[in-house]
Parts: sequence; C-alpha cells; structure tokens
Amino acid sequence: MDKPFRRRDLLGIRDLSAAEIIGILDTAENFREISTREVKKVPALRGKTVINLFFESSTRTRTSFELAAKRLSADAVNISVSSSSLSKGETLLDTALNLDAMAPDCIVVRHSSAGVPHQLAKVSKAAIINAGDGANEHPTQALLDAMTIREHKGKIDGLEVAIIGDILHSRVARSNIHLLTKMGATVRVAGPGTLVPRDFSHLVENGLDVCSHVEDAIEGADVVMILRIQRERQDSAYFPTLREYAIHYGLTNDRLDLAKKDAIVLHPGPMNRGIEIASDVADSSRSLILDQVKYGVAVRMAVLYLATGGSMSGK
Ligand code: CP
Repeated sequence: MDKPFRRRDLLGIRDLSAAEIIGILDTAENFREISTREVKKVPALRGKTVINLFFESSTRTRTSFELAAKRLSADAVNISVSSSSLSKGETLLDTALNLDAMAPDCIVVRHSSAGVPHQLAKVSKAAIINAGDGANEHPTQALLDAMTIREHKGKIDGLEVAIIGDILHSRVARSNIHLLTKMGATVRVAGPGTLVPRDFSHLVENGLDVCSHVEDAIEGADVVMILRIQRERQDSAYFPTLREYAIHYGLTNDRLDLAKKDAIVLHPGPMNRGIEIASDVADSSRSLILDQVKYGVAVRMAVLYLATGGSMSGK
C-alpha cells in the first residue's frame, strides 16, 4: 500500500525515520526496472523541472540526478558554477532566489560548506535535495548504499558493517552511520587516529563502535565500506605518506579475508586505487562498486518523485 511522503526537502538521513528510509528504498526498487527497458522513460514527472546546482565536482551524483530526472520525463537543467553569475560575485542566496523565481520544482545542491542545502530550504519554494554538503551529509549516497546492501543481503537489520578510512571528513560516513544504525545494523569505524573522531555519541544512540585497528573493524563484517581519502578537505597532514596509508589502512585481500566469507565491498567513488583499496579487491566479485552506481539512478528517481509529491511504495 502506498504511503504519503510528508517531507518536501531531503537534507539528511539524520532527519528520517526508519519507516521513511524503507519507503524510499521500496520506491527506488519499483523504479529500478525502468533503467533496464529499451525506452528508459516514464511520464511520472512530466511538466516538472529539476535544477542541478553543483558547487563541487561530481561524476556519479550529478549524472545520476540528471538521468533520474530525464527517465521520469522531468526537464533537467545543469548549472555550471564557473559560467554562472556566481563567478561575478552574486551571493549564494541571491542565486537561489533567482533560480526559485523561475519556478523549478526541485533544486539539487552540492556545496563544500555544511548547511548550505538547509539555508536554501529556508528561502526556496522548490524542494531542496542535498547532494553532499561539506563533511556533513550525503543522504542519497547512504540510500543507494543501503539499496545495494539490501539487494545483496536481503536485509540491513542485524548486519555488521565496517566503515574504514577518512571518517572525519566523510559526509558519506555520517549519512551511512545514521542510516545503518536506524535500520538495526552494527557499525564499526576505523582508520588513522587523526581521521577518526573518538566521540560519536552526538551522532547516534547505539550500534556504533570506534575501533583502534582496521583489522578489528573488518573481522566478521558482512559489509566492508571503504572511504576515499579526501585530500581536498584536509588542511594539514593527517598521515605521513599515501604509501604508509595504503600499507596500514588500505583494503587488501588479506584484510578482506578477516570479514565473513560472503562479505561485500562498497566504495562511494571516486576510488584512489592502490591507496584506500587495492585494485584486485576493487575489481573482484565481492566488490559491488558499480552496482552502487546503478542503484544510484533508482534511488535518485525515488527521491525526485517523492520530493515532488509522489507517495512511497509499500510492501
Ligand atoms: N559518490 C559520489 O558522490 O561521487 P561523485 O563525487 O562523483 O558524485
């Protein structure tokens, strides 16, 4: 039975209930099949307009939001910040108000500063979708990761998930920690001491362990999620060299052997091959990195559909 989605914006996973997460994932599952058709288009969002406003580079998120909008028959507009009037000194708020005056239904925004989507949501009549804000959240990434896990493990509740790497700067880690613990998984995080905040108590109530060693986090895990080293957000040296990072924290087959035999490997991309993940792991049958990208289109179709008034699919 379909259920109403009572939100306009998607700003973070922190705000969502487990029931809403399940509703979005069920809706995405229904949309998944459209991308396998010869004619990959349905009229669900005909007459709606989606603006992609990305202040940071992106391959996967921007392309999949654009494809998602087009496969639902919405008009999709990509704004290049370098050729927009932002480069002439227009403020972010004025840019948002001017875009809003053109009556889009959805604005998808990525920005290097945490909280920008929340600011835009206060002034915009359009639904605001957070496509990544600084080190805060990347909600659609966590949703597509959850869809990948659910498709391959059949559930999320009760699973053990290791998240390895640059936790400190990772919006992917934050959104995933919120989502996975709300859905009943146990999450273990590990990485260089300088890149793993010791105190996550403000983030979740339970279900999260901070491990001193990568091996402790991976041991017995059902899912091993590797994070990218985010050199663009690191304003000082958090570890001596990339070579040392690869030796002490990189996911190799030897480290992966500590996980359950049927463990799956996720990485949000873009990958630094040979640093946080060895190429033979990234290209192995246990790696679902391209499945994540595939499910990203379905999740973003669901998010655009729900943010513009659609109802959540139910089972
Ligand atoms: N995972 C992710 O956000 O990738 P992009 O930066 O390419 O969008």
